[in-house]
Amino acid sequence: MEMTQQAAKPEFAASGLYIDGTWRASVTGRTAEVRSPYDGTLVAVVAKASAEDVSDAVGAALAAHRAGALPLHERIAILDRAAALLRQRADEFARAIALESAKPIKTAAGEVARAIDTMVFTAAEARTHQGTTVPMEAVASGAGKIGFTLRVPVGVVAAIAPFNFPLNLVVHKIAPAIAVGCATVLKPASQTPVASLLLAQLLEDAGLPAGWLNVVTGSGDEVGTALSTHPDVAYITFTGSPTVGWGIAAAAAKKKVRLELGSNAPLIIDEGADWAAAADAAAMGGYAQAGQSCVSTQRIFVHRSHVDDFTARLRERVEALVVGHPLDASVDVSAVISLPEAERISSWIDEAVAGGATMIVGGAREGAVVRPTILRDVEAAMKVQCQEVFGPVVTIVAFDDFADAVAQANASPFGLNAGVFTDDIGNALYAARTLDFGSVYINDSPTTRVDHQPYGGVKDSGNTREGPRYAMEEMTEMRLVTLRTTR
Ligand code: SIN
Repeated sequence: MEMTQQAAKPEFAASGLYIDGTWRASVTGRTAEVRSPYDGTLVAVVAKASAEDVSDAVGAALAAHRAGALPLHERIAILDRAAALLRQRADEFARAIALESAKPIKTAAGEVARAIDTMVFTAAEARTHQGTTVPMEAVASGAGKIGFTLRVPVGVVAAIAPFNFPLNLVVHKIAPAIAVGCATVLKPASQTPVASLLLAQLLEDAGLPAGWLNVVTGSGDEVGTALSTHPDVAYITFTGSPTVGWGIAAAAAKKKVRLELGSNAPLIIDEGADWAAAADAAAMGGYAQAGQSCVSTQRIFVHRSHVDDFTARLRERVEALVVGHPLDASVDVSAVISLPEAERISSWIDEAVAGGATMIVGGAREGAVVRPTILRDVEAAMKVQCQEVFGPVVTIVAFDDFADAVAQANASPFGLNAGVFTDDIGNALYAARTLDFGSVYINDSPTTRVDHQPYGGVKDSGNTREGPRYAMEEMTEMRLVTLRTTR
């Protein structure tokens, strides 16, 4: 495709930083262009924040926090109104996501629908989120006392979001913060700030008062670092790369840091499994949004009795995927987020093939578009097998023994989602108990999530569970209150 780098009117109007309810330029006056990864179309020109802007944003959030909680019923009403407004403006948001991230428009529309669900589930959870009573009188020293717990907002939240779900993964951070009464400073991914800026406007329209959400756009190195190290930030919620995430945690010993990171998700297809259904699931799970999901299906382990049939069917499904412009409603796979990322993915494919892997389909690249690729005969030490590809590449490995497949799936630094197709209840339960992952899905793809489930990983994949109820628990502290009766 042609790259259009010449000066042009952006698709979305210029937008500044959103600090204390006001849209303003960076104190430095700097701006940054947002361009489509697919063809270089100018999507927006946004402000490039500095450490001083970040300080202003944290100050506004802290002032909102100190001024006293927005009453719960108002927070719920804001979330309800925001969900209704997002429903009305769904096409505009989907177009922004498709343009800034090259996510195919039908997948972007699905993301907007999920973001509405996330808001709706958060508002529902906010209606019932509660502490507990403590039976103080169960011991003699508690006699005459009544005890209960309150859930208290943790303080200013820093939300650092990734490019791969520019809206829904932002809503997963912002909505629970609003629900529990935490003021937030949001740093969207530098490649995909537009959905976040539209969201800030939408929340303002829904009645969120000044200071409760602040948006600072800019680079991870400058804005992300200034935000995550700011002394007035109490809680950091980060989704992104393991290196950056664990680096933030190491530098923020006294803050609560919650990380949702990468993975190289395994899919195991057992001897008696419906391998054709598994191939169909893999064609979705390995290539949706060009494999740029933390739970993209990457490592497929297939029982030797089916491996050729499975590979043939997956190849057929992959060859049928439509590759092209993200705004074309028929397109399944478009560009990855940037040319350097596409080049990295291609180099990993080339390295695997040079090392003896067999290319079943794909392998080609045009600009930032990497053709959906299947590799067989891979070795455990190849990057496509032992690291996170974050691109449209899956590997297939044959196995003879189910327990060995589970062991190979576990032989990864990551542990987010795992999928297992099996007709054997014993193997299903063995996998559920033995796979070292945050979620184990039986007869389903690992590339699966409903937005109210607990979602998160173990090992290098992170230390959190997102999902409205779980994020609300994490964004609050438990405070015990006791009342001693005096008569
Ligand atoms: C992620 O990439 O971590 C999010 C996946 C999803 O929400 O579907």
